[in-house]
Amino acid sequence: MPDAPAAPDAPDASGGLRVAVAGAAGRMGETVCRAVDAAGDMELVARADPALGTSVAQALAQGPGVLVDFTTPTTALDNACQALAAGVHVVIGTTGFDAAELQGLEGLERANVFVAPNFAIGAVLMTRFAVEAARHMARAEIIELHHDRKLDKPSGTAARTAQLMEQAAGREVPVHSVRLPGLVAHQEVILGDVGQTLTIRHDSIDRESFMPGVLLAVRRVGELTESPTVGLEHLLW
Ligand SMILES: NC(=O)c1ccc[n+]([C@@H]2O[C@H](COP(=O)([O-])OP(=O)(O)OC[C@H]3O[C@@H](n4cnc5c(N)ncnc54)[C@H](O)[C@@H]3O)[C@@H](O)[C@H]2O)c1
Repeated sequence: MPDAPAAPDAPDASGGLRVAVAGAAGRMGETVCRAVDAAGDMELVARADPALGTSVAQALAQGPGVLVDFTTPTTALDNACQALAAGVHVVIGTTGFDAAELQGLEGLERANVFVAPNFAIGAVLMTRFAVEAARHMARAEIIELHHDRKLDKPSGTAARTAQLMEQAAGREVPVHSVRLPGLVAHQEVILGDVGQTLTIRHDSIDRESFMPGVLLAVRRVGELTESPTVGLEHLLW
């Protein structure tokens, strides 16, 4: 008889946290699989992706403690539902879906959800500095620049930066999107006032920039006191 899947949060035989990745054949998913493999305190137990012929349901049957989702705007919510139904915590990096829809999901009493539109520490700092600057300068606009295969527009990072700046300053913050080959993930917040401008810019030049944040979320999602939690800043300060 095959072994029963380990309970969520249960360490694997080597004592590590069991992790499954949805979107494992994608640009981000592949990078996450390598990062989990290289981390001493976790084990990659399943890679789900239609491109690999493995569904999320099959991945969940391997008994992960955490499912990491880097898929598409139309699949992330359903994947999260499946994980919660199985009592598996979820870390979502996918952007372009309405994170407010996570509030009503069934299964939130059994497992936690953590979502971040950007897992790069520099991007989180950019947003924090931009929110502070928006309180002091007359106007601001955002230019976000990404690779040309990105599905959503504006980016999740730009949408969240604009939302937080608008809350802080009480003014609209327009967002402009650029999609070009050669780019990874970049954002410029330009603030203007009488006779001066201030530019705050962040560049992810490699998807490795997101990995420390993703691994931090995987380690911490099981102990969240609020779920869903949106934004890496909640794990940093
Ligand atoms: N939060 C962050 O820091 C961050 C950083 C970069 C990218 N992203 C976001 O991550 C997502 C993925 O980006 P990417 O560049 O890796 O895209 P990608 O197109 O390279 O990869 C997506 C993968 O998901 C797979 N997939 C589709 N439906 C699926 C399903 N139901 N279950 C499992 N896998 C499925 C696809 O086959 C594909 O391999 C995008 O939404 C992007 O905006 C977030």
